[in-house]
Amino acid sequence: MSDELMLRPLTGADFSAAREVADEWFGHPVGLTMHRLFFEQLGASGVYAADAARPERMVGVLLGLRSEIEPDLAYVHFHMVDPSLRGRGVGRALYVDFGERMHARGCTSIRALAAPDRVGSRRFHEALGFAGREEPDYVGPGQDRVVYERRLPI
Ligand SMILES: CC(C)(COP(=O)(O)OP(=O)(O)OC[C@H]1O[C@@H](n2cnc3c(N)ncnc32)[C@H](O)[C@@H]1OP(=O)(O)O)[C@@H](O)C(=O)NCCC(=O)NCCS
Repeated sequence: MSDELMLRPLTGADFSAAREVADEWFGHPVGLTMHRLFFEQLGASGVYAADAARPERMVGVLLGLRSEIEPDLAYVHFHMVDPSLRGRGVGRALYVDFGERMHARGCTSIRALAAPDRVGSRRFHEALGFAGREEPDYVGPGQDRVVYERRLPI
């Protein structure tokens, strides 16, 4: 990969490429967490990352939205980076780009979830300055989550 990233909003046309790699990049089946809805109806809020020299080669995706109920809150639903390109700032770039665009729309904070046993995701959010609180049964019985939040911009 060249040193330069290309970042742009998602479109419905990005769904297939992202779906094809999601289970492998995530390390387990993501199921309907990656729904077509996030690309076709909410894609303009999300982020597609590619090598600037090869824009068709997706290297990361972030699905996120601006809250309807709390319009000052930006919410990251899902993000993933090509395993062969981790540790090079792609994940941070996805968050910074999403955070900048949501901040420009009036959001003052950003929230994301991590399962307690997903240590990599927890360390990632902590490295980006998020503070986390453990919430039991947050997404269902026995499905605890760490709820991470920080101020915008990142
Ligand atoms: C989490 C994930 C997106 C991180 O992407 P990445 O491109 O490797 O992250 P970056 O290189 O931008 O790292 C940003 C910071 O987080 C830290 N970090 C990232 N992954 C880490 C890990 N596994 N362990 C410890 N620290 C980590 C980096 O050291 C870096 O810190 P620094 O800026 O202080 O040097 C990636 O590992 C991934 O796709 N994981 C699988 C999907 C997933 O778990 N998604 C999150 C739940 S929706």
